[in-house]
Amino acid sequence: MDGFLAASRKRVDSSLDAVLPAATQHPADLHRAMRHAVFPGGKRLRPALTLGAAVAAGVDPEEAMPVASAVELVHACSLALDDLPSQDDNAVRRGQPAVHVAFDPATAVLAASALLAEAFAQCTRLSDPSASVAVGACLTRTIGPQGVIGGQIDDLAFTPAETSLEHIEFIHLRKTAALFRFSVWGGGVAGGLVGEQLGRLDPFGRAYGLAFQVVDDMLDEDLGECSILHVLSRKQARGRIHQLLDEAVRQIEPFGPDGWVLAGLVRRLYGLLP
Ligand code: IPE
Ligand code: IPE
Ligand code: MG
Ligand code: MG
Repeated sequence: MDGFLAASRKRVDSSLDAVLPAATQHPADLHRAMRHAVFPGGKRLRPALTLGAAVAAGVDPEEAMPVASAVELVHACSLALDDLPSQDDNAVRRGQPAVHVAFDPATAVLAASALLAEAFAQCTRLSDPSASVAVGACLTRTIGPQGVIGGQIDDLAFTPAETSLEHIEFIHLRKTAALFRFSVWGGGVAGGLVGEQLGRLDPFGRAYGLAFQVVDDMLDEDLGECSILHVLSRKQARGRIHQLLDEAVRQIEPFGPDGWVLAGLVRRLYGLLP
C-alpha cells in the first residue's frame, strides 16, 4: 500500500507539474501563485482515491490521471479560497504561508479560479469522449451551488448555538464529501466501469468523505466552526467514523482483490485518527 501511494503521488505530482504553466511564464505572479497552492501539497488523498477506483476497475491507473489531477486542482482551489481573510482567515496552510499571504488576496482569488479552469480542461482529456462528458458534467454539479460552494457558504454562516447532527452533516456532505464522491466515481468512469459496480463507488465516496471530515474535526486542536464535536462527544464521533467506514467497506466488497487500494485507503483513514 505504501509503495502504491508513494508511486501514485509521484505520478500525480508530475502530471500537475506538466499541467500548470511555468512559474517563469507571463503572468508570472499568477502562475507562481497557482503553483504555490498546489506544491508541495498535502496528503494527496483525493487523487489516490481516483487511482484506487481505476485499480478497482481493473485498468492501468494512468487512464484516470486526468481525473486525479482535476480533483487535486479543485481541492487546492478550495483551500486557497477558504483561507482568504473574507472566509476562514488562515495565514498558514500546510506549514507555509497561505496563497493570499505569500501573494495578495486578489492574486489568490484569480489563481484559485485559474486552477478550477484547468481542472475542467483535465476532464476533457479522457481517452473515451463520452467518459469526458460524464465526468465534466459531474464535476460541475460537485463544485456548484448544490455542492462544494453551497456547503462552503452554509459553513461560513454556521452558528454552533442553533445546530444539529443533521445540519452539520448536510454541510459536510457538500463542502467535503462531494469532492470525495467525485474523486472515486470519476476514477471508476475513467476506468470504464458502468452499472452496478460504478453505482457502488458513489456511496463509498460519500461515506469515506463524511468520515474524513469527522476525522479532520477530531484532529483540529480548537473546535472548528462547523465541527461535528459541537453535537457529538469524541466517543460518539469515533462511533460515527466506524459506522461510515463499515458502510464504505461494504460497498467495495464485491470488487474483491481489485478493491485493495480503496480498502487500504479506508485503513489509512483509521490510521489518521488521534
Ligand atoms: C483539508 O483537506 C480540508 C478539508 C476538507 C477538511 P486535506 O486534509 O485532505 O488537506 P491536504 O491536501 O492533505 O493538505
Ligand atoms: C476547507 O475546509 C475547505 C473546503 C472543504 C471547501 P475547512 O475550513 O473545514 O478545512 P481547514 O481546517 O481550513 O483545512
Ligand atoms: Mg472552512
Ligand atoms: Mg478553513
